[in-house]
Amino acid sequence: MTLMATTGMAHAEDVEVLHWWTSGGEASALNVLKDGLAADGIGWIDMPVAGGGGESAMTTLRARVTSGDAPTAVQMLGYDIQDWAEEGKLANLDAVAAEEGWDAVVPAALQAFSKYDGHWVAAPVNVHSTNWVWANKAVLDELGIAQPATWEEFVAAMQAVKDSGRIALAHGGQAWQDATMFDGIVLSVGGVDFYKKAFIELDSEALGSEQTVEAFNRMATLRSFADDNFSGRDWNLASAMVINGDAAFQIMGDWAKGEFLNAGKVPGTDFLCFRLPGTQGDVSFNSDQFAMFAQTDTAAQAAQAEMARAIMSPGFQSAFNVVKGSVPARTDVPNDAFDACGKQGMVELAEASANGTLVGSIAHGHANRAAVKNAIYDVVTAHFNGEYDAATATKELVNAVEAAQ
Ligand code: GAL
Repeated sequence: MTLMATTGMAHAEDVEVLHWWTSGGEASALNVLKDGLAADGIGWIDMPVAGGGGESAMTTLRARVTSGDAPTAVQMLGYDIQDWAEEGKLANLDAVAAEEGWDAVVPAALQAFSKYDGHWVAAPVNVHSTNWVWANKAVLDELGIAQPATWEEFVAAMQAVKDSGRIALAHGGQAWQDATMFDGIVLSVGGVDFYKKAFIELDSEALGSEQTVEAFNRMATLRSFADDNFSGRDWNLASAMVINGDAAFQIMGDWAKGEFLNAGKVPGTDFLCFRLPGTQGDVSFNSDQFAMFAQTDTAAQAAQAEMARAIMSPGFQSAFNVVKGSVPARTDVPNDAFDACGKQGMVELAEASANGTLVGSIAHGHANRAAVKNAIYDVVTAHFNGEYDAATATKELVNAVEAAQ
């Protein structure tokens, strides 16, 4: 944790922003935001808390709020926004939302998290999605491996890479990264109907079914294709393994694309992006939003409203998401500036939204409140690290999820 400045040093027109965007690609995207706000006369006090998925950031946030020193603006995901709103800590953004017409342009799936009790409490900056695979094109070409379209083809492709003596799957053994792969794996096994029944509605029968056992079996298969040093590795270092050709594939949300772009790599030429085989047409999403913690000072309130306005402007949504790897959180942003993966992501998001195949990410707090999310993390990680076989993990999952509700 780095405390860059204290609020005591802040000017009223500054915003102190708590976030976990500390990798190379994330920092580039963050600069787009900082520069955009600077152009609007809003100063930036940085409060980075490293750790993908934001678990550490949320722990720091809790401590700050408990000590009566909430940051002005906080990167936040899904149900965490709802929890903080329920505690009455978030500022009401209705006025700026009405002036800017957010209701008409923010997809309903996002509004479900940005609004609490009918009031806007957060400004969505992007839509990420977790069921992506990132591949080194030169490695695949050299080994004569075509882009896999089914789970079986994907396993065969990973086997061919492994047989060649290279690392098939770049992975970082951290609970949130294991869970991020699990999002796509659940979809690959049972599609959106099973995903919703088991992991959103938390139906015990679906959770305890053979499909969950199969999901754990697939997770074990993935583990067999990771290298021996995966434990504890940061996600962006796993991305670097694919970027450098040390590994062929990474299963990761599209923030990984930010790392490829930051390294000067071009989609279709240097790397491939494709949906986890068996999940084409499905999108498991997470949206980074900025929630504003309620302030009494009117100048601070004005700076928060300006930040929210800036974040939601179509120009910013394009410029930021082009760098971040995500797609815009509004439906009316042109796709011209986006690369092939971004254009694909935008089309697939719209289609999944229209077809009912858009689901909130389990790993990134868009399927359940934190207690359930953490219960799922624990079991998925314990299984991934060999503590349980698939059948035991399934039973443990049912128990852990029931206990967490
Ligand atoms: C996610 C977040 C992304 C990215 C990722 C890795 O939770 O939504 O924006 O930052 O973590 O840090």
